[in-house]
Amino acid sequence: MEGFLRNAWYVAGWSHEVGHALKAVRILGDEIVLYRTEDGRPVALEDACPHRKLPLSAGRLIGDTVECGYHGLTFDCSGACVRAPTQEAMIPPRALVHSYPVADRWDLLWIWMGDPALADENEIYEIENFDNPAWGKTDGGAMDIACNYLYIVDNLLDPSHVAWVHMTSFAGAGTEGTPLQIDAFDDGVLVWRWIEDRPVPPYYADLTKFEGNCDRKQHYECRFPAIAINRSIFAPAGTGGPDRPLHEKTFVNISYNFMTPIDAENTRYYWFQHRNSDPDDKAISAYMLAGAEMAFKEDRDVLEKVQRGMANPRTPAINLGLDAGAMRFRRMLDRRIEAEQQKTETAAE
Ligand code: FES
Ligand SMILES: [Fe+2]
Repeated sequence: MEGFLRNAWYVAGWSHEVGHALKAVRILGDEIVLYRTEDGRPVALEDACPHRKLPLSAGRLIGDTVECGYHGLTFDCSGACVRAPTQEAMIPPRALVHSYPVADRWDLLWIWMGDPALADENEIYEIENFDNPAWGKTDGGAMDIACNYLYIVDNLLDPSHVAWVHMTSFAGAGTEGTPLQIDAFDDGVLVWRWIEDRPVPPYYADLTKFEGNCDRKQHYECRFPAIAINRSIFAPAGTGGPDRPLHEKTFVNISYNFMTPIDAENTRYYWFQHRNSDPDDKAISAYMLAGAEMAFKEDRDVLEKVQRGMANPRTPAINLGLDAGAMRFRRMLDRRIEAEQQKTETAAE
């Protein structure tokens, strides 16, 4: 679990959380200050004045520039020093802070942590049906989890844990033993299974619009570096299964999860849910948000203990068959991180 993929878009926050004010965040171990210009454009700068490294977030915004709170060096949105009040005639040529590419998309603020020249907003993860009026969304949530982001990825590529961790909500017959399928892509992994002809689990009973048993698909997908798409599909029994079109009464809920490493041992986790029904029903949205929050707290409780347990080197940890998807994801991501680090080293030589 060495290093992070830097040439990638990460979620820096919900767009509404960042306004015309300085906001300090920590992402991949970097201290960053976020703000919006007077006309609403997002800005992300290294949060350290190059003079004595006071965080710029401890200074103040003047128009679209940030003034350091110690001796007044002032930086524009590109990170260039535009004013040195203690020596007006001579702005130090090396007074420069890193400026990170940022973009608003899907109500989230995205940040590019690598080489700014490689940032391409078209590579931000595409959320289908985002503006489809037939689909309903929950409000977005956010939560800090004191664990490495890859333990959350493991969890979100692991449909098996539902039977134990979410016993009273999402669990249902078949979630403990039905075999898992794994598909690998260039940039991620999908673990899935259809569980046929079982009762609808209690949490979903009020959301499905058909009587009787269901065919249930658990679709657990993760894309680099740390985006998880979890589709819960409930079709009337007898109509589900691989490669079949979904029955019109099928209920689909997609949980989008964005894990942003704060550092190697802490993660800020953002999510929202998107369903193919009842777009304007605020009560359903509130019910689903509360359900997700409850489940994520159950996950958080386990994952923070996993972080501490796995940090104990005295006894080795083993993998089970259920880990195959997550291990594949880690291996592929490791290779990508290694290639990126080699490229950076070669460029630096
Ligand atoms: S520490 Fe920022 S100007 Fe001195
Ligand atoms: Fe979970």
